[in-house]
Amino acid sequence: MDDPAVAGLAAVLSPAGQALLASLPPYDDEGALALGQRLRAAGHDPVLVAGALTQSRLRARARAKFGPFADDMLFTAAGLEQATRLEVAARHARRFAATGVRRAADLGCGVGGDALALAGLGVDVLAVDRDEPTAAVAAANLRRFPGSEVRCEDVAATDLTGVDGAWLDPARRDAAGRRVLDPRRASPPLSFAVELAQRLPVGVKTAPGIDHDLVPGAVGDAPAGGAWECQWTSVDGDVVEAALWSPALARPGVRRSAVVVRAGAAAVVDDAHDPFAGGAPPVGPVGGYLYEPDGAVVRAGLVGAVVAALDGRLVDPSIAYVTADRHLELPSATGYAVDEVLPFGLKPLRARLRERGVGRLVVKKRGTAVEPEELRRRLGRLEGPHEAVVVLTRVAGRQSALLCRALPRPAA
Ligand SMILES: C[S@@+](CC[C@H](N)C(=O)[O-])C[C@H]1O[C@@H](n2cnc3c(N)ncnc32)[C@H](O)[C@@H]1O
Repeated sequence: MDDPAVAGLAAVLSPAGQALLASLPPYDDEGALALGQRLRAAGHDPVLVAGALTQSRLRARARAKFGPFADDMLFTAAGLEQATRLEVAARHARRFAATGVRRAADLGCGVGGDALALAGLGVDVLAVDRDEPTAAVAAANLRRFPGSEVRCEDVAATDLTGVDGAWLDPARRDAAGRRVLDPRRASPPLSFAVELAQRLPVGVKTAPGIDHDLVPGAVGDAPAGGAWECQWTSVDGDVVEAALWSPALARPGVRRSAVVVRAGAAAVVDDAHDPFAGGAPPVGPVGGYLYEPDGAVVRAGLVGAVVAALDGRLVDPSIAYVTADRHLELPSATGYAVDEVLPFGLKPLRARLRERGVGRLVVKKRGTAVEPEELRRRLGRLEGPHEAVVVLTRVAGRQSALLCRALPRPAA
């Protein structure tokens, strides 16, 4: 075995390896070297020691995605990086379970993030990955689910007899390790999933930046069987994915939706509840409050739903800032109280910040070339007891600086 990572993983998969891993203390970066030396001095195989310490380190990192479940899982470094975090995988799995899928294929299962969520909901899983160490890790992770099976093969060759739904999270790196944003070039490609959807309910994960026109049926005639739903998801402010759901798994009447997950709670916005979905939201003067819609809402093109919920308006037709005359706590947008609207200029801004005693400043921007860091540097040292948010944007076509204060944000 030439690859030390693969050799280490193989050693960890043995009963002796599992026992050593279970005996390790919680991972501590600084103590890892000394721990490795002690274990080798105690007679443990150096390859196994390296493999066990790698797993211990990956488990510690994996807690961010899998919480305490990470401590019972195995990983590869690449597999962990690509794995769907538990709370998002659980949402995928719920769609399949709610549609009555009993045995789902996870085609390109990686270390099994999505497969585990499906199995955890009682859906049997046929998990397939063509990479041998990855499939071995998925098998270890799914060992507690006897209805699940892992195959190491190319998904194009997988016999799907007995499967009544399929999930795909295609690999989005090319051979050189570069990110592939176009789902038509991912592995397996979008065309594979679309073809499969003629036979089975299908869900596909894609990058958040997916071109809306690539959603099956977005351009031209509606595909057979009805419309697909594209759902963007953000977790604590980061947009993590856009999932495509074939007609059997899409929600009726919904083509675009956004899920905003914050502190474990989720809120959903969709085009069925966006009165401006087919047109443009109104634009008007800056009111007493400014709202920054969540990234998933913006990616989904559902800023109009925020405008409608606030009875508000955009500050500029092409910028995703919403203004309103009243404050409403929305999970789908962050609110600010607007104190002043200034035409953008360094000197007047600096003067106003001094007058207001602003010592701490958060800079936000949309629709302007000014870089927040550069602005902060050019403003020089700020002193004072107050905190402010300055929002750089266009208001009715003019570069402006909105002096604001953050408002409390509710849990989703
Ligand atoms: C993004 S990862 C999946 C991550 C997984 N959803 C999770 O949560 O752990 C994609 C996986 O697809 C596998 N893959 C890519 N093309 C494949 C193919 N044609 N057949 C089988 N597996 C494939 C890769 O080896 C990789 O492990």
